[in-house]
Amino acid sequence: MIDTIFKHRTIRSYKSLAIEDEVLEKILKAGTRASTTGNMQVYSVIVTKDKEIKEKLWQAHFKQNMVKQAPVILTFCADFNRFNKWCEQRKAKPGYDNFLSFYTASIDALLAAQNVALEAESHGLGICYLGTTTYMAADIIKALNIPKSVVPVTSIVIGYPQDIPPLTDRLPLEAVVHADVYTDYSEEDIDRIYKDKEALQQTKDLLIENEKETLSQVFTDNRYTKKDNVFFSKEYLKIIERQGFMNNEL
Ligand SMILES: Cc1cc2nc3c(=O)[nH]c(=O)nc-3n(C[C@H](O)[C@H](O)[C@H](O)COP(=O)(O)O)c2cc1C
Repeated sequence: MIDTIFKHRTIRSYKSLAIEDEVLEKILKAGTRASTTGNMQVYSVIVTKDKEIKEKLWQAHFKQNMVKQAPVILTFCADFNRFNKWCEQRKAKPGYDNFLSFYTASIDALLAAQNVALEAESHGLGICYLGTTTYMAADIIKALNIPKSVVPVTSIVIGYPQDIPPLTDRLPLEAVVHADVYTDYSEEDIDRIYKDKEALQQTKDLLIENEKETLSQVFTDNRYTKKDNVFFSKEYLKIIERQGFMNNEL
């Protein structure tokens, strides 16, 4: 498994090969073995293989090719629907219609998703997370019949890789690890931490492609702009409220 972790790369093109049912079941079971808040398992996974529903998901996920190409799309949701029903059927009054509960359930969903990703990779399958899940949650809710108290938080496409891309770079460990307490970054730290990334040929190509002076500008001006972030934040907050997670009154 450690080997699997160190070999991870996102796969964006897939063979048109189905995933064997037993393999998929094992992968999903691995998801359920993740840590979960209070062992409540307040998440659910929607397994989409149907062509028509995949087409709807493809539309929602900014028409990313792999959503149509990969045999399986997994949508991980923060889900208090099932747990609330269980409480109500057992004479218990659920208090999970607030933001904290949404966040708790999101953590559960994400931990399950990463277990699923690793188990899938250990079977020779490839995966790609879809950030478009949060951007387009309203369309995904519609396409997948998602009820109240459930919010999609991430998706993973899974399938057999068409080709294996090289490993992507990572920042040095010192960039993300602090000893005992948080040590804030000096200007020199920032220069040192990002030096290797900035020197990559891939970075140089990106600067030309995006007509930018620095790699940071590729992020701020093109990939993840303030305008988009504000727009999609408002959309997602509306969804969290509509799905019943913003009643923060006692
Ligand atoms: C939450 C999340 C959302 C992502 N969304 C997308 C996506 O919508 N499309 C895509 O092609 N890759 C997506 N990725 C993959 C990242 O781009 C990828 O993990 C990153 O570039 C590092 O590459 P690696 O996974 O090959 O190491 C996402 C990854 C995460 C964790």
